[in-house]
Amino acid sequence: MSTYKIAIIGGDGIGPEVIAEGLKVLNAVSTKHGFILEKTEFAFGGERHLKTGEILSDSEVNRLKQFDAIYLGGIGHPKVKPGILEKGILLKLRFDLDQYINLRPVKLYENVETPLKNKKPKDIDYVVIRENTGGLYTGVGEFQNKGTPDEVAIQSMVYSRKQVERCVRFAFDYIKNRHQNKPWQGLTKKEKDKGFIGKLTLCGKTNVLTFVYDLWDRTFHEVAKDYPEIIADYCHVDAICIYIVESPQRFDGIVTGNMFGDIITDLAAATQGGMGVAPSGNINPNGVSMFEPVHGTAPIFAGKNVVNPIAAILTAQMMLKNLGEGKAAEDIEKAVGKVIKKMKSMLVDEMGFSTSEIGSMVADNL
Ligand code: IPM
Ligand code: MN
Repeated sequence: MSTYKIAIIGGDGIGPEVIAEGLKVLNAVSTKHGFILEKTEFAFGGERHLKTGEILSDSEVNRLKQFDAIYLGGIGHPKVKPGILEKGILLKLRFDLDQYINLRPVKLYENVETPLKNKKPKDIDYVVIRENTGGLYTGVGEFQNKGTPDEVAIQSMVYSRKQVERCVRFAFDYIKNRHQNKPWQGLTKKEKDKGFIGKLTLCGKTNVLTFVYDLWDRTFHEVAKDYPEIIADYCHVDAICIYIVESPQRFDGIVTGNMFGDIITDLAAATQGGMGVAPSGNINPNGVSMFEPVHGTAPIFAGKNVVNPIAAILTAQMMLKNLGEGKAAEDIEKAVGKVIKKMKSMLVDEMGFSTSEIGSMVADNL
């Protein structure tokens, strides 16, 4: 029987309560499919920081390297200055564990309300592959003449060829696997006849960021030659925002740098019904990956049993898929689909059920 060692970091705000629902579902599905999840909880987050001053030490990161995966709720605390915990815990984990991909599927489920007029589940079904360890997030920068009228602040967008290439390759591989058995439904007949099975769009800004996105663009088109079955498409980030709203059906996969990826995935999450349904995975294909819902900590709703745990449950589903438990992951997605049909809304306090009721319903529908 397979055993997986999972590190659980509930974190702050609503993190612990949505993770509790994800664990309910994980327990039920592991029993059904006969594998073991050996869970160890860690108290990293704002509460611990306020009590002990600790953030996250290198030896704690090293301990996490011994796990098969990390399941994380959210990090951030209203009583801690913005940036301390986010940089000191979340970004430190992403960087130190070299989780260089942030995988964010954008999928509109049946019966979920989207703010996009006339868009159906078949129109919103793509994945954003966000580079996760470089760009504007590296912290490279400086102040000059700080506090004077002549102050200058610099924040550098830094990318190496290797970083860009491994991300772009991951993205092409991902799209290839996604359509191994079934070509993407958005292809025209002509494209299918030519042998294409999917499409990857590079989201950049080659008209202004003529260093960094020139590197991305060159790398993207060079790597594309190894994937003749995938259409290699390019779009500036501002236009991407138009299409995410007006014609999401043109996307199969989007690959982009860290900052653009952060921004467009919040917009994309809104189109799939909001933060209550958006999962994500911080992936190191050769190491320890970390799975977290996109929504963060939402402290004002914490402890009230009113938030939507579907994002956290779908995040657990991504984790199982990544661990190689594809059948169990499929089961979770099906159960989620059934439960969503019974929910009145995906929004906080309007779901028709409490957080814990939804978790139990998904577990019962497995
Ligand atoms: C996200 C978040 C983080 C990010 C913050 C909390 C540092 O917004 O996961 O998208 O910017 O990556
Ligand atoms: Mn974000």
